[in-house]
Amino acid sequence: MPHIYIEILGNLPEMAIDEVKAMLELAGGEITGRDYLLLTVRAGEAALPFLNRLGLAHEYGELIVEADSIEELLEMAGEVRWPIRGTFKANTERMANCRFNLLNLPGKLGAVIHAQGHRVNLSGPDTLVRVYCGGRLYAGVRLRFFDPKDFERRKAHHRPFFRPISLHPRISRAMVNLTKATRELLDPFMGAGGILMEAGLLGLKVYGVDIRPEMVKGAEMNLRHYGIKDYILRLGDATKLEEIFPEKRFEAIATDPPYGTSATLAGRKREELYRKALKSMYNVLREGGRLVTAFPVDFDGEGEAGKIGFKLVGRYHQRVHKSLERWFCVFEK
Ligand SMILES: C[S@@+](CC[C@H](N)C(=O)[O-])C[C@H]1O[C@@H](n2cnc3c(N)ncnc32)[C@H](O)[C@@H]1O
Repeated sequence: MPHIYIEILGNLPEMAIDEVKAMLELAGGEITGRDYLLLTVRAGEAALPFLNRLGLAHEYGELIVEADSIEELLEMAGEVRWPIRGTFKANTERMANCRFNLLNLPGKLGAVIHAQGHRVNLSGPDTLVRVYCGGRLYAGVRLRFFDPKDFERRKAHHRPFFRPISLHPRISRAMVNLTKATRELLDPFMGAGGILMEAGLLGLKVYGVDIRPEMVKGAEMNLRHYGIKDYILRLGDATKLEEIFPEKRFEAIATDPPYGTSATLAGRKREELYRKALKSMYNVLREGGRLVTAFPVDFDGEGEAGKIGFKLVGRYHQRVHKSLERWFCVFEK
């Protein structure tokens, strides 16, 4: 089994780690260590398509050596065969807890790998050798870089149907992954469809509900714009999902219910809407299925979901701005 390194994003690290865990639970594999924002993982080739789904990661690669000093790193690097395809270049990533002097390290490591017969190309290498510096040193070969531009181009203002209240695509993606969905996903407060877009791009069949007709139309425009065709969208009430989808039991649910006092609550009391929607989501979720949802911090989502029968498996705090703090919660039925 190869060793893998994964560099996660720094803004929601616990959520990022649980996203990786969820993917490894599907793919087989485990996290073996953590050094600040670098995870080391043991997983087979079959895990790579699952790691390619990640939202809260910068990159991952094959981990080749781990060391406690520069000298040890260079010595070990000379003893292993580097899986270099074509030409290569080495560079370093200094994390906030880095405790080594990295001066000249790319050149020195490059020379060691060059001595094995690999050609250096600094301007357009085929393979990137990465060294991470934290409490220890880690060197590996990059397999996948999650280009921020890929997520940025799906941010709210780039969509044909634009609504400002929308999660960042990376967070929507992580919510989908935390459900561990492999076939389908329901969002009963879909809004402009941001969560459904991320699920659809992973090849899941997506189901969406919203109480406002313009949202149902808008979400469909957005899904089609990003090439997603396998969807069922319904005008309806998230507190009556059993009526909208009779007999259906969903594999997974991810959602971002309305927080405000604005029109998005469609005239309801927020607490009552949440309680009823939680109950309805519970009823249409299959046994063992997961619900990932956001809640504003002043709502006791954990307590209310617990009364219905949901088990909390993860919870992550986010401060969006001065007047909005929320929890992302992962529940299991
Ligand atoms: C915060 S927005 C969802 C944003 C979405 N997650 C996104 O990223 O684009 C919440 C949506 O819930 C809808 N909504 C409000 N009450 C509802 C209800 N009872 N049933 C279904 N949808 C409802 C609103 O119309 C609004 O579009």
